[in-house]
Amino acid sequence: MCGTMSASDVFKKAKIGDTVSVRGWIYRTRSSGGIVFTVIRDSTGIVQCTVIKGELPDEDFRAAEKALVESSVIVEGVVREDRRAPGGREIGAKKFTVVHFAERFPIFKDQTEEFLLDNRHLWLRSREMTQTMKVKALILRAAREWFFENGFVETTPPILTANACEGGSTLFELKYFERKGYLSQSAQLYLEALIFSLEKVWSLTPSFRAEKSRTPRHLAEFWHLEEEAAWVTLKGNLEIQEQLVSYICQYVAKHGKDELEFLGRNPDDLKVIEPPFQRIPYTKAVDILNDRGFDFRWGEDFGTNEERELSMLDNKPIFITNYPAEIKPFYMKISPDNPKTVENADMLAPEGYGEIIGGSERETDIKSMEERLIRDNAALENYQWYFDLRRYGSVPHSGFGLGIERVVRWLCKREHIRDTLPFPRTVARLTP
Ligand code: 4AD
Ligand code: MG
Repeated sequence: MCGTMSASDVFKKAKIGDTVSVRGWIYRTRSSGGIVFTVIRDSTGIVQCTVIKGELPDEDFRAAEKALVESSVIVEGVVREDRRAPGGREIGAKKFTVVHFAERFPIFKDQTEEFLLDNRHLWLRSREMTQTMKVKALILRAAREWFFENGFVETTPPILTANACEGGSTLFELKYFERKGYLSQSAQLYLEALIFSLEKVWSLTPSFRAEKSRTPRHLAEFWHLEEEAAWVTLKGNLEIQEQLVSYICQYVAKHGKDELEFLGRNPDDLKVIEPPFQRIPYTKAVDILNDRGFDFRWGEDFGTNEERELSMLDNKPIFITNYPAEIKPFYMKISPDNPKTVENADMLAPEGYGEIIGGSERETDIKSMEERLIRDNAALENYQWYFDLRRYGSVPHSGFGLGIERVVRWLCKREHIRDTLPFPRTVARLTP
């Protein structure tokens, strides 16, 4: 007798003939004659239990026969080899305890995406969601580890703000006591304030965008991993990004092999994600697109199709650098050698997944920032505290923001970004 065991340990640790006890939820069940085949699911996987009348108390057999999918159960029995069972092993039940008889589960095969979203609180039990959430946890852990190992200090910027960071059109407004406030779009401006004492900082916060567009890559609420560092120019910024992303990929390939394979991602795809990543200036990207039949003019922003095309250029992420200043926010440094472009880069994930990071060297010239804020119809008085950072010991500095769900979508090969977090928030959905 070896006590309670996880479903995966029945395959990894138990020996044939061991008596084990597993607990979980009924994933599938069917009975014929005097036999019930019940597959039990727990947080680690699934295991089949075969319940044969006469091999356990009658009362237990009747409970097994009656228990519907998602009933919570504890099963004790003997580990046997069985080629027909998933994974090649099963448990021959000697005891079958139903902790709770579930009502008929509303989710079954071939239901619409909308139905599954309405029942998200239950659909979270699906194996796809479980594996995706595990990979997400690995991504977060890897990122935290990388920052810690490389001397960055984790900080806690506010979510309630008075400033727009990424322009007014995607701000969620709220009533802040007697004033107007906003939900944060980015911690960047606050991280910039923190580098003057801590030099190298990062944060992980929810960010909010009132995105009206329904796309497979946009959420109204996402987890934003942001970095900011003093004494770093665009070049150094890109090196930090590629090292971090590569570390995450190596970590997930190593520790999330089973989860990735379940989701249809070959871990070897991620092992090749090593620095350096290609750096392609925006101006060159425009030429590449036009050579490939796009009708795209210098000064336009890439749409989904352009980004997809560019993200097929390599099997690793690529950087598109030095975008036109007109289409980028006020805080990006104007290129010293070209007043029409900024010292920025977007990192595009391969295979068509597109932008996962936006970053830049930051402008230090107050006048240039004021001009661009006026261009964007922003209220200058809200940025005076930010300009102070350029008045007292200004230094070259850079930073970036990585969308965690965008990375999960890429690594887990998910079609839609909503399947990278448990309770997605989009234009159409605030519940459950
Ligand atoms: O490119 P963005 O808008 O850049 C910023 O917010 C900078 N202030 C970050 C910084 O430099 N500290 O957003 C950064 C990343 C994007 O590359 C994308 O991965 C993700 O955040 N992102 C979204 N993810 C999901 N849904 C949305 N609506 C997103 N908007 C941005
Ligand atoms: Mg961006």
